[in-house]
Amino acid sequence: MDRETVDEATDVTRQSPPSSFLEGANVTDGSIRETFSSEWPECWDRAGASLDWMEPYSRVLDRRNPPFYRWFPDGTLNASYNCLDRHLESGRKNHAAIRWEGKDGERRTYTYRELFVEVNECAAALRALGVGEDDVVTIYLPMIPELPIAMLACARLGAPHSVVFAGLSAAALATRMEAADSEYLITCDGYYRRGDAFNQKSKADNARFSLETDVTTVVVDRLGEALPHVLGDGEHDYGDLLEAHSRETVEPVARDAEDMLFLMYTSGTTGEPKGVVHSTGGYLAYAAWTSQAVLDVKPEDTYWCAADIGWITGHSYIVYGPLALGTTTVMYEGTPDYPDRDRLWEIVERMAVDVFYTAPTAVRAFMKWGTEYPDAYDRSSLRLLGTVGEPINPRAWHWYRDHIGDGECPIVDTWWQTETGGITISTLPGVDDMKPGAAGPPLPGIDVELLAGDGSPVDVGEPGYLTLTKPWPGMAKTLYDGDDSFLEEYWSQFSDPEADDWRYASGDAARMDDDGYLTILGRVDDVINVAGRRFSTMEIESAIVGVEGIAEAAVVGGPDGATVYAYVSTEGDTEPDGSIESRVINAVETAIGPIARPERIVFTPELPKTRSGKIMRRLLEDVTNGESLGDTSALRNPEIVGEIQSAIGARD
Ligand code: PRX
Repeated sequence: MDRETVDEATDVTRQSPPSSFLEGANVTDGSIRETFSSEWPECWDRAGASLDWMEPYSRVLDRRNPPFYRWFPDGTLNASYNCLDRHLESGRKNHAAIRWEGKDGERRTYTYRELFVEVNECAAALRALGVGEDDVVTIYLPMIPELPIAMLACARLGAPHSVVFAGLSAAALATRMEAADSEYLITCDGYYRRGDAFNQKSKADNARFSLETDVTTVVVDRLGEALPHVLGDGEHDYGDLLEAHSRETVEPVARDAEDMLFLMYTSGTTGEPKGVVHSTGGYLAYAAWTSQAVLDVKPEDTYWCAADIGWITGHSYIVYGPLALGTTTVMYEGTPDYPDRDRLWEIVERMAVDVFYTAPTAVRAFMKWGTEYPDAYDRSSLRLLGTVGEPINPRAWHWYRDHIGDGECPIVDTWWQTETGGITISTLPGVDDMKPGAAGPPLPGIDVELLAGDGSPVDVGEPGYLTLTKPWPGMAKTLYDGDDSFLEEYWSQFSDPEADDWRYASGDAARMDDDGYLTILGRVDDVINVAGRRFSTMEIESAIVGVEGIAEAAVVGGPDGATVYAYVSTEGDTEPDGSIESRVINAVETAIGPIARPERIVFTPELPKTRSGKIMRRLLEDVTNGESLGDTSALRNPEIVGEIQSAIGARD
C-alpha cells in the first residue's frame, strides 16, 4: 500500500512482528493474557518475584480497603539494593549501568560497581546532613548522572524523592517543596541547554527564599568556571560531600513494600499540581516487569529512553525499570538537534543501541527534518522502537518504522500515566500484531472498560471514558495531600463503593475496536498534553489572568499537540499589543516555566462561551487545529468564532 495515501484515521492495517524479533523476544507466549486473567491477582507474583526481598511477601495483594490496595503487603525491600547491590553479587559489577552523553559531547560511563560506590557516598553524605527515613528530598537537577545517583541514594535511605523537572520555574519548585514539606534540596549551579548556560541555582535560591522553612541544600558543580557560584548558609558542595564520605557504604534500609519510594507532582484537573505517591514494592516490580515484557529489555542490552528523568517516563524507564533488570541505560543531556539533527542517530550507532523509546512529537520532528539524518548512520543494532506520551498518528508510525527501524523493528505505542506508574496499554511486541494509530490492548492483568458519562459501557467503536477496573502493582498509592483527594480525583466518578465496584478514572477518552485494541482520543478533563507533557489549563490560565489588563484566558494544545495556544481577552482600556503579549509570556514562564510558554497568543474581544457561561475550550481546540467546527448553536456568542478564526488565519 502507498503509505502516503493511507487514511490517517482508518489505518488499522495489522502489522505482524517480524520473525527476526520473535526469535529472541522476552515474551512470546500467546496465551499470557488468559493466564494472567485466570490467575489474577497471583499472576503478579512473577513481577514481585523478579525483585530481591529482605523479608519475602506472603501475599501478592491485600484488597480489603479499596481503592487503597496493598501490593506485596508484608514484604520488605530496598529499591537501591535491587538496582545496584544485587547486580554486583550476580557478576555484573563491571557491566555498564549508565552511559551518559553530555550536551557538548562529554561522556561518562558508570559500571554497576561505580554507580554503587557513588550512590553510597551520596547516601552517606545525605545521612550526615540529617536526611532520615521518610524525609522528602527534592531533586532539581537536569539530565546529569547526579540525578539518578541522588534518587538511588534517597531510596537507599528510605527517604522519598520528589524530582522537579529542571526547566520548571522557581515558583513551581517552591510550590512543590512546600506541598511536600521538603526541607532538603539537591540542585546544581547551572546547565547547558543548546548553546546557553542557564543559571539553575538562582532559580533554586529564589524558591528557597520564598519558603518559610530552612532548606538544607546540596549543589552539584556542573559548569565550573563557566558559571562561578558562592555557597551560603546551609548549602553544601556535592563534590566536597562525596570526598568527605569517600568509600563509605550505607546499609540499604528495609522498606515495607507499601512505603513511599517517591512522589511526583503532576497537573491535575483543578488548581495546584498533585503529588502522586508511588510505593516501593509494587512500583518497582511493575517498572521492571513492563520494561522486560513491553520494552523487551535484556540485561545485555544498551537501552535508550530519550525522555527526561524529571517526568515519570524517566523515573520508570531510564532509572528504575532498566536498572532493576541490570541493563545498560543511556542518559542523554542534550536535545535531538544539537549541534545537528543527526545527534541521536550518531549516538545510536556509536553505542549500538538495542531499544529506543521516545515521544511521538520527537518522531514528527525527525520526519520533518528528513531521512538524510538517520540514513547517514548504522542503526542495525535497533531491535525495538517505542513511543509514549501522546497518540502517534499512522503516518508518523510508518515513518518511524521504515526510516528508524528499517522496517524490521516492531513499535510499541505505550499508553500510561504518572498515576499508573508504568505502561498499562500496549501491544506485547513478541505476541501481538500492531495496528498503527491504536496503542493496543490492555497489558496482561490490566482490565479496561470504556464508559459513557452515566457509567454505562459504550459499544465497540464508540468513544468512552477510559477506566481501569482492576488494581495493578504500579498504581499510585495515594496523593500526598491526602486519601480524600485521591478518592475524589480518580475514584469518585465511576465507582460504586456500595457494590464494591471500583474503577480508576484516567481522565482520557478512548475507542475500542472488535479486537480489543484501544485508540486513545485524548484528555476529557482540563488537562492539556503538550509534546507529551501534561499541564493543567487552570494553572496556565491563572498565570495569564494574573497579568494586569487581562480579563480572561483559555489555553489549548496547538497544532500537532506540540505547543500551547492562548486565547486572551483584555480589559476595556487595555490595548492588546506586544507589551502585554510579553507580560503574558513572562507570567507563564515565572509561574510554571518556559516549557509552558504559549507559542501563540490570540487576542479576542470575548471567549466563546456556552449559555451557562462556560468557556468552550473544545471549540477553541478545533479552531486552533483548523478542524471543522460542528454545531455552534449552543454558544451564547457564536459570532465570536468567525473573528477568532480570522485572527488565527491573519497571522498564519
Ligand atoms: O492523555 C494521556 C497521554 O498522556 C497522559 C499522561 O501524562 P503523564 O502523566 O504526564 O505521563 C506521560 C507519560 C506516561 C495520558 O492521560 N498519553 C500517554 N501515553 C499515550 C497518551 N496518549 C495517547 N497515546 C499514548 N501512548
